Amino acid sequence: MFDLDRFIAECRDAVAADPSHKSVREVVARTVSEPAAILNGMGEPRSAGVEALYRGSDLTILSVVWAPRMTIMPHNHLMWAVIGVYTGREDNIFWRRTPGAAEGRIEAAGAKSLGPRDAEPLGRDIIHSVTNPLSRLTGAIHVYGGDFFAVSRSEWDPETLQEGRYDLAKNMRLFEEANAAFLRA
Ligand SMILES: [Fe+2]
Repeated sequence: MFDLDRFIAECRDAVAADPSHKSVREVVARTVSEPAAILNGMGEPRSAGVEALYRGSDLTILSVVWAPRMTIMPHNHLMWAVIGVYTGREDNIFWRRTPGAAEGRIEAAGAKSLGPRDAEPLGRDIIHSVTNPLSRLTGAIHVYGGDFFAVSRSEWDPETLQEGRYDLAKNMRLFEEANAAFLRA
């Protein structure tokens, strides 16, 4: 049985005891090891969007529901993260800064496809882009090792791969637009 308040409390206890991602990752891994329990507790995802389940200076916990075939451009977090998927799939491309390149250009460095029961830790400096490759919604819980909304970070233009300032409002709009398209379909 998934209990959101208990999950939040366990994550906060974990990071209080161990400020690295490791203990939180154990909590997330244990939680997403029972995807059916999360679906029962949170309900089957019905629309795409980002919802803050908890926001503090210690952690941010987001419920992220990706619209079908939605892609978000490369971005960094500047804090560690743990991504736990409970339904659907998140395809990640990992990027690195191209040595010596101007304007913070990046190049693809690896990839990882995450599905139910995966709890993937992302390092502080990781740059990734994410695609939901499916024709249905993907649901995940993202835990960040700080206040996600208070940090100034970077995003990269998906066409030119040039670095710019992460635009939170634009990214939230991207989810809204993807959701509107999903609900129309
Ligand atoms: Fe991200």
